[in-house]
Amino acid sequence: MINLFGKRKNIKMKIGNQNYQSIWVDENDPTVIRVIDQQKLPFLFEIKDLRSVDDVYNAIDDMTVRGAPLIGATAAFGIYLATLEITSQTNIREHLSNAARYLISCRPTAVNLSWAVGRVMEKIRDEHNTELLAKKALEASLEICDTEKENCRQIGKHGLKLIEAISKKKKGAPVNILTHCNAGWLACIDYGTATAPIYLAHEKGIPVHVWVDETRPRNQGAKLTAYELGQNGVPYTLIPDNTGGHLMQQKMVDIVIVGSDRTTRKGDVANKIGTYLKALAAFDNKIPFYCALPSSSIDFGISDGVKEITIEERNPEEVTHITGLCDGEVKSVRICPEDTIAANFGFDVTPARLVTGLITEKGICRAAEKDIKEMFSYKFN
Ligand code: MRU
Repeated sequence: MINLFGKRKNIKMKIGNQNYQSIWVDENDPTVIRVIDQQKLPFLFEIKDLRSVDDVYNAIDDMTVRGAPLIGATAAFGIYLATLEITSQTNIREHLSNAARYLISCRPTAVNLSWAVGRVMEKIRDEHNTELLAKKALEASLEICDTEKENCRQIGKHGLKLIEAISKKKKGAPVNILTHCNAGWLACIDYGTATAPIYLAHEKGIPVHVWVDETRPRNQGAKLTAYELGQNGVPYTLIPDNTGGHLMQQKMVDIVIVGSDRTTRKGDVANKIGTYLKALAAFDNKIPFYCALPSSSIDFGISDGVKEITIEERNPEEVTHITGLCDGEVKSVRICPEDTIAANFGFDVTPARLVTGLITEKGICRAAEKDIKEMFSYKFN
């Protein structure tokens, strides 16, 4: 059964006392897609309306919405909105293909974007009736949301076993989990990927504590992971990005769980810049390093992540400036000499050999082609 609106219906995650998912269709006007504006969090909670393909492109581009599964779901709704832009003058196939190309071009690293757009395009491929096109595109987008929610729930169930085992070994002392960026429900539709096992453990009464990397330059950890863990009652401590190695040496981290934007068929994982350094530190300290991801984040067509994954390069101003709350106003300030040249690579690739395992909706497997193939044989050709 498709969950039509995504607000107050079968949703787990909370802001205040209200359950939310990160994207939904307006209950009063199904031609409007509503999202939580992640640019404003945690300082302001605002909902943004997306009414056109351009709105969707801009929301992904300026990171109103971000995180691999949510980018995919939003782009899927972008194709739905493209069907609503069809008039009697429109060359339908050309219009939809242009919209698909345009949306996919928005951010290069997360594979969910092209996966979701491709999936909706496939569902409407043989449809020529304008009304039915819109109906099918909407259904396909909602189905993607529902599938991703369920995938995250399954990731949670599988990952929970890892946390339970550590908790048992520690005789109930809090399990310390380190995470990077935001691979929480805000980055997905509900539950999150890296956070799903944490939320389920917390719900089950297993004491957990999360080390939250601030995740410069955009601070998704400080702004989003800290916010959503806090809203859902999970204990956490915010740390500068460089702290993880020290914590691992001091045995203050039991497990690292991160998300993924694109994982290769051989298990190399592209994720937010800085993930690789955490994996190296975890490897050196023999701390389990897991990547939690739905199969929509696996690019089954590529093998070598370092060579084959395009790493997004973003505006250097995100590095030279920092944004925060000052005297009740959100302000951006420069943190380096004027005219400083800065580099802003959005993601890095953690080679499979540094990844203890992948937590997927189908279960946990080694980051190796043989194991990924066993789990997702139908995706290999
Ligand atoms: O640039 P962002 O904020 O879209 O990057 C997000 C991340 O790197 C997440 O950790 C990743 O997408 C996993 S999302 C479940």
